[in-house]
Amino acid sequence: METASDVAHPPVFDPRVPRHVAIIMDGNGRWAKQRGRPRTAGHREGVKSVRAVVEESVRRGVETLTLFAFSSENWRRPRTEVNILMELFMTALRSEARRLNENGVCLRVIGERGAFPEKLQQRIAEAEALTADNTRLNLQVAANYGGRWDIVQAVRQLALDVQAGWLDPSQIDERRLADRLSFPDLPEPDLFIRTGGEQRLSNFVLWQSAYSELYFSDVLWPDFDAAAYGQALDDYARRQRRFGLTGDQVEQTVPALVDSCVG
Ligand code: IPE
Ligand code: IPE
Ligand code: MG
Repeated sequence: METASDVAHPPVFDPRVPRHVAIIMDGNGRWAKQRGRPRTAGHREGVKSVRAVVEESVRRGVETLTLFAFSSENWRRPRTEVNILMELFMTALRSEARRLNENGVCLRVIGERGAFPEKLQQRIAEAEALTADNTRLNLQVAANYGGRWDIVQAVRQLALDVQAGWLDPSQIDERRLADRLSFPDLPEPDLFIRTGGEQRLSNFVLWQSAYSELYFSDVLWPDFDAAAYGQALDDYARRQRRFGLTGDQVEQTVPALVDSCVG
């Protein structure tokens, strides 16, 4: 139950620990190719890295972890690879949901799930329902997700509100648009990691990463273990986030001023 003193003293966050980490899990295909194995072997191996990163997030006090599992553009891959990815998603949901639940992880899938096979949509809904009340870590899996898709679906909702007469176009601002994106209830990613050596965003969380700290690792996703992830978290801990302020201002006035800037 919330008491008067909780309200007077909102939770204090350690600024060295990112509240929200978003990861592009890239490099599965190359990992497999290096071993003379089919690309899908890399995807299977990547599930172990997911486990490691989830566990390390809990251990380090990260509140939300968003993993890019399948982009809106990944449908362009060979049909056999797409099918195997769908199967892998199904089996991973089955095998991991109970374990996630036991570890207090709340699972949510973001993206346009209507494009997935009916059975997969059902399995997603079941896993989300099973873990809905957990609070140790929010795990968001971005599947058939695209940053541009997210912005467009938010704009469409606003347009419908205007059409219905609930909203005047002059009232549309950043806050109202952000409220219609995929995870308005969670903080924006503080740390944005991409494994696999490429240095691009590939249409992952675009709006929400406006002020994320970027970290690119050459490690291929199946090799990205707790230690590699720990290095990214340690690197983040050493950074100074300025949000448009000067370094001196940040040193003198954090966290109140920074909070008022990111609102
Ligand atoms: C990321 O690894 C997984 C998905 C996009 C599903 P890739 O499959 O893109 O691996 P590389 O980039 O080809 O090595
Ligand atoms: C981004 O990786 C998508 C996921 C990791 C799910 P890609 O491997 O698809 O990105 P590009 O195509 O190389 O930019
Ligand atoms: Mg790739």
